[in-house]
Amino acid sequence: MGRLDGKVAIITGAGIGIGRSAALLFAEHGSQVAIAEINSETGRETERMVRKAGGEAMFIETDVTNADSVQAAIGAAANRFGKLNIVYNNAGGATPNDGPVTEAPDEEFWRAISLDLFGTFLMCKHGIPKLIEAGGGSVINSASNVALMALPGRDCYTAAKGGVAAMTRSMAAEYARHNIRVNALAPCAVRTERVAHMMDNDPNIKAILDRHLLGVAEPIDIAQMALYLASDEARVTTGQVLPVDSGITIS
Ligand SMILES: NC(=O)c1ccc[n+]([C@@H]2O[C@H](COP(=O)([O-])OP(=O)(O)OC[C@H]3O[C@@H](n4cnc5c(N)ncnc54)[C@H](O)[C@@H]3O)[C@@H](O)[C@H]2O)c1
Repeated sequence: MGRLDGKVAIITGAGIGIGRSAALLFAEHGSQVAIAEINSETGRETERMVRKAGGEAMFIETDVTNADSVQAAIGAAANRFGKLNIVYNNAGGATPNDGPVTEAPDEEFWRAISLDLFGTFLMCKHGIPKLIEAGGGSVINSASNVALMALPGRDCYTAAKGGVAAMTRSMAAEYARHNIRVNALAPCAVRTERVAHMMDNDPNIKAILDRHLLGVAEPIDIAQMALYLASDEARVTTGQVLPVDSGITIS
C-alpha cells in the first residue's frame, strides 16, 4: 500500500531537481501528481517519467509568480483529479547574483522575493481553499537552512526563505481548524544541477560543504521528508521548519 494512496498533489517547479524527485516518489506512493512548472520541456519530461513508472501525472505550464497562472493551475489540477490534498511549494532557489546586502543588486532581491516568497503566498492563497473543500490536507513549503542559521553572502535568498519560514508558522496556526497542516523543509546544499553548477564556480563553497557532516544531500533525501509531511503519518506535525541538512545547523 502506498503512503499517499488516494491523494492528489500539486508540486511546483517539478521539472527538475528536488521537485522532479518528489513527483516520482509521490506517484510511486499512490498520489496523482500535478506538475506545475514554468519550463514546458522539463515539466513534460517529468510527466513522461511518472507515467512510465506507472503513476498518474499531469503537466501544467505555470508561473508561480503570476496570480492568474497559479489560479488556473490549481483549478486545472482539481478539475482533472477531482480534488486537491497536497500543495508542495518547491519552485525557488538562489542564484550566483545574490550577495551580502551591501553588494546584492536590488533586482536579485525582488527576483528571490517574487519567486520563493510571493510564489508560495500565491499557491497557498489559491490552493488552501481547495484543501478546505477536500476536508483538510498538507502544505509543504520550501525554506532552507539559511532560514535557521547565519549563512552570509546570500541576503536576498535568506530574506525570502526567512519569510517562507515565518509564513509557514502563521498559516499552520490559522488553518489547523480546517485540518490543514503547514510545514516547511529546510535543506542544506542539495546536489541538483543548478547547485552543482554553483558549487563548481563558488570559491567559498568548500568551507560550507565541509560542514555537511553526512555529505551533501541528494534530491531524494529532501523528497523523502516531503513524502512524510504529505502523508497522514505526519498528522500532528504542523508549523515546523524541518532541517534535512546533513547536520549543518549543528556543526
Ligand atoms: N538545491 C539546494 O541546495 C537547495 C537547498 C535549500 C533549499 N532548496 C530549495 O528547494 C527548492 C528546489 O530546489 P532545486 O535545487 O531542486 O531547484 P531547481 O533549480 O533544480 O528546480 C527549480 C524548478 O523550478 C522551476 N521554476 C523556476 N521559476 C518558476 C516559476 N516562476 N514558476 C514555476 N516553476 C518555476 C524551474 O524551471 C525548475 O524546474 C527551492 O525552493 C530551493 O530554494 C534547495
